[in-house]
Amino acid sequence: MKKLVKWCAVLLLVAAAAMVVVYRAVNQVPSPELPQYEQVYEIFEEGGCLSCHSSDPKLPFYAKLPVAGKIVMKDIDSGYRAYDIRPFMDALKVDGEFSPVDLAKIEKVVLDDRMPMPKYYLVHWGSSLTEAKREIVLGWILKERAEMYADNLPESRAGEPVRPIDSALEVDEAKAALGFALFHDPRLSVDNTVSCATCHALETAGVDNHQYSHGVDDQLGGVNAPTVYNAVYNFVQFWDGRAKTLADQAAGPPLNPVEMASESFDQIIAKLKEDKKFVKAFYAVYADGLTEANITDAIEEFERTLITPDSRFDQWLRGDDSALTAEELEGYELFKKYDCATCHVGQNLGGHSYELMGLRRHYFADRGLELTIEDNGRYKETQLERDRHRFKVPGLRNVEHTWPYYHDGTRETLEEAVRDMAIYQSDVEMTETEIDKVVSFLKTLTGKYKGELLTNDTSRDVIHDHDHDH
Ligand code: HEC
Ligand code: HEC
Ligand code: HEC
Repeated sequence: MKKLVKWCAVLLLVAAAAMVVVYRAVNQVPSPELPQYEQVYEIFEEGGCLSCHSSDPKLPFYAKLPVAGKIVMKDIDSGYRAYDIRPFMDALKVDGEFSPVDLAKIEKVVLDDRMPMPKYYLVHWGSSLTEAKREIVLGWILKERAEMYADNLPESRAGEPVRPIDSALEVDEAKAALGFALFHDPRLSVDNTVSCATCHALETAGVDNHQYSHGVDDQLGGVNAPTVYNAVYNFVQFWDGRAKTLADQAAGPPLNPVEMASESFDQIIAKLKEDKKFVKAFYAVYADGLTEANITDAIEEFERTLITPDSRFDQWLRGDDSALTAEELEGYELFKKYDCATCHVGQNLGGHSYELMGLRRHYFADRGLELTIEDNGRYKETQLERDRHRFKVPGLRNVEHTWPYYHDGTRETLEEAVRDMAIYQSDVEMTETEIDKVVSFLKTLTGKYKGELLTNDTSRDVIHDHDHDH
């Protein structure tokens, strides 16, 4: 009897050793001769990432089996819903342009050892990310990120997914001065009552602190106004991304019937032309004078000045250890731990991708309000089902001053906004202490405009626009 046990043990050991040998053989790291990006490509191709994270998954043979098949299809569905890796893989193939969001998302799942999921690599030998493979991927991400920003952060901060804002952008001062005037000019509206600044006042952090904005005749819009500060860092403008540039964006509000309600740019230009002084100033800068393109160009140029560098968090990023308290720093660590910094990345902590509102819980079902057209988000533009409820991720700079929050303006305090983000985006119920820490970190993102720290002295009360209707 004892002998049998002994033999069995030996047999098991031999089998295990053989497994390890085979496993090693099928799970080799890519040749170090290859360029780094090709090594990473090979790792992810073997990792089967495309099988679950693209619109055209390569189905494994067992996807056709009854029970296993159901599980596989569910993983593929929720994998693709959470993340489309195709643009990243295509960029990787040619060492092209990478999105800071892709780098952050992939870095996070590799650091947490979450992908590929064990049930996948247990079947697909060779797909799991061994320590050696993870090292290659993480090293490459750090190198790419440093190149992307070229901001020369000290070594202790060089890997951070959040980056400091430029101290200034190159701007044509004469155009920006015209843009400033236009931004504050109510003649862009049909009855000369509403300017851009009505909803985006510079003294109130570039927002109106209403749930929904009020246009001419006190008409109500259907979505919360984001700030104009640091909008220049957004990859597209508006919650649904319908404007590619700030100039594109600026052409919208003047003719929007519930905002400024002008009939046409011709109507606006005719009014401005009556102002001889303004016309003279305009021709001094734009040879072809007052046109829609020049008006929106000037506004864009002005908006390039609306950046808020030198926040305490940026001082910390640039190497000043004393810029943050221990609590604020812990808040930042939690912000990374709970995946916040996979969507809220880069210089504006957002503005680089469209993401699902309610990625991990049912935000819209829980909200209890009727769905609106605006709730469709990116879908409004593309009519693709996958884009429904996807929004351009808002930046979080100066966020302590830009209440209420979310596209629907339903969260009045930063604490609520943070608590619910954790629930709906990261499936985490944060403790009160954790929420306080993250909020204290977010408050360190308040920066300076023209050397002065941004403030917002309007009453903390959110104007309830649904009440206003009655
Ligand atoms: C068997 C299917 C499957 C494979 C293979 C797979 N994933 Fe995933 N992945 C998923 C699912 C399902 C989720 C969503 C899990 C969740 O909601 O937390 C996910 C989530 C992710 C996320 C997080 C998205 C977010 O916004 O938080 C990233 C990034 C990711 N996967 C990358 C990868 C990479 C890189 C690989 C290859 C090494 C890979 N995945 C392989 C199914 C898969
Ligand atoms: C009546 C209030 C109102 C007026 C007037 C107004 N806006 Fe807005 N602004 C909004 C709202 C609401 C949104 C969000 C709309 C959306 O995403 O669909 C917005 C979005 C923006 C954005 C996009 C920011 C981002 O993060 O996507 C910019 C930039 C902007 N406005 C600049 C301007 C400029 C320039 C003007 C004047 C030409 C202007 N706004 C006039 C309310 C207003
Ligand atoms: C999967 C991507 C994703 C993750 C993860 C994520 N967010 Fe967001 N965040 C968004 C999107 C999209 C919105 C806009 C949602 C809306 O308007 O309905 C948003 C909005 C916000 C806002 C409100 C900003 C404003 O101006 O309205 C705050 C604050 C915020 N997020 C903080 C966090 C924190 C803290 C975490 C981590 C606990 C987090 N987010 C995780 C995508 C994400």
